[in-house]
Amino acid sequence: MKVAVLKERGARETRVAASPESVKKLVGLGVSVHVESGAGARARFSDDEYRGAGAEIGADADSVLADADVLLSVERPSRECVSRLRRGAILVGQLAPYSGRADIEHYAECGIDAFAMELMPRISRAQYMDVLSSQANLAGYKAVMDAVGVFERAVPMMMTAAGTIPPARIMVLGAGVAGLQAIATAKRLGAIVSATDVRPAAKEQVESLGGSFVMVESEETAEAETAAGYAKEMSEDYKRRQAQLVADTLKKQDIVICTALIPGRPAPRLVTREMVESMRPGSVIVDLAAEQGGNCELSRPGEIVDHQGVSIVAHYNVPGRLPTDASALYARNLFNFIAPFVDTDSGTITMDWQDELVTGTGLTHDGALVHPLLGGESEAQGGN
Ligand code: NAI
Repeated sequence: MKVAVLKERGARETRVAASPESVKKLVGLGVSVHVESGAGARARFSDDEYRGAGAEIGADADSVLADADVLLSVERPSRECVSRLRRGAILVGQLAPYSGRADIEHYAECGIDAFAMELMPRISRAQYMDVLSSQANLAGYKAVMDAVGVFERAVPMMMTAAGTIPPARIMVLGAGVAGLQAIATAKRLGAIVSATDVRPAAKEQVESLGGSFVMVESEETAEAETAAGYAKEMSEDYKRRQAQLVADTLKKQDIVICTALIPGRPAPRLVTREMVESMRPGSVIVDLAAEQGGNCELSRPGEIVDHQGVSIVAHYNVPGRLPTDASALYARNLFNFIAPFVDTDSGTITMDWQDELVTGTGLTHDGALVHPLLGGESEAQGGN
């Protein structure tokens, strides 16, 4: 059985789908791993390290993809790459299943069984394979670091002979995986931290990290969480009341970290131009939701905007700003997903289409689109 790992083609992608550690584990299962030369360069994994872990280094994509049984990727690979895989091969990666249907149809035409790791069910058994969590956790940390890098004042309270510097106030919008890590990171820096979410379950989690929780109380919030644990889109009335609460709170903040997302939909718009203008000059907003449309009206993906003295930071691919750690965790997630399906005696891989982790992530199988998300019916995750 041959597993292929390519250099990611996306200009903004710094991560790689296998680490020397995950290669070693795959080789331990009797798998032959082929890595394109330079695949790990941006994540600081050298060809020699991969070789030392048991991989074969291929000079180009052609040689790595030839006869591969599995292609591991970070982002959706190009159609050209997918066309070079043999029929029946398996593709595992972050395949952006909510967009680019034509690409997914192309997997089916090529007879590829494609698995979108973003759709991994949020159940205990799958925690080790949960790429959204592993990457969001790093993004939450890095968002606070990015904010502090731009912020022109100190974060912790400092009592000095020359007087006292008050602690910075940091507010986190959305208390999921990224938000909770942002809260923990901000607390470690000594900030006064508050957070909001639409899911009441977030209150206890925020408070256990030492943050204060602010939320619009409403009957609607009892239904705000889907069975998969994600948020739903809220009513217009709720949005109006939430906007008022955010507006009142934001004025007093120095740093705002935006992490609110709704799977498969544009990010909720929580910070308006007017709210930004109510903040003190020198304040900083970091919008982790920028690539999904942004929680802040003034975010521009890939830019740091200065609006009347307030900096609005919206980096692309924030986990990719920590490429070594992000790749190491991502590679472990992929290994944990495929390893149980590898038969070490015969050296083959057979995905079990009775397993909910396979049906939950599988987009295409035997030349057809198989995920409910693609059938225009109910959404497998987060929808309803
Ligand atoms: P996400 O990335 O989809 O969204 C981030 C946060 O934004 C969520 O907490 C969401 O409730 C919040 N949000 C959405 N709309 C909002 C609005 N209008 N105002 C304020 N906040 C808003 O979510 P993420 O981080 O992927 O986590 C979703 C859930 O999954 C959480 O309950 C988390 O604890 C749970 N989870 C469960 C796992 C497991 O059991 N294996 C693993 C990871 C997460």
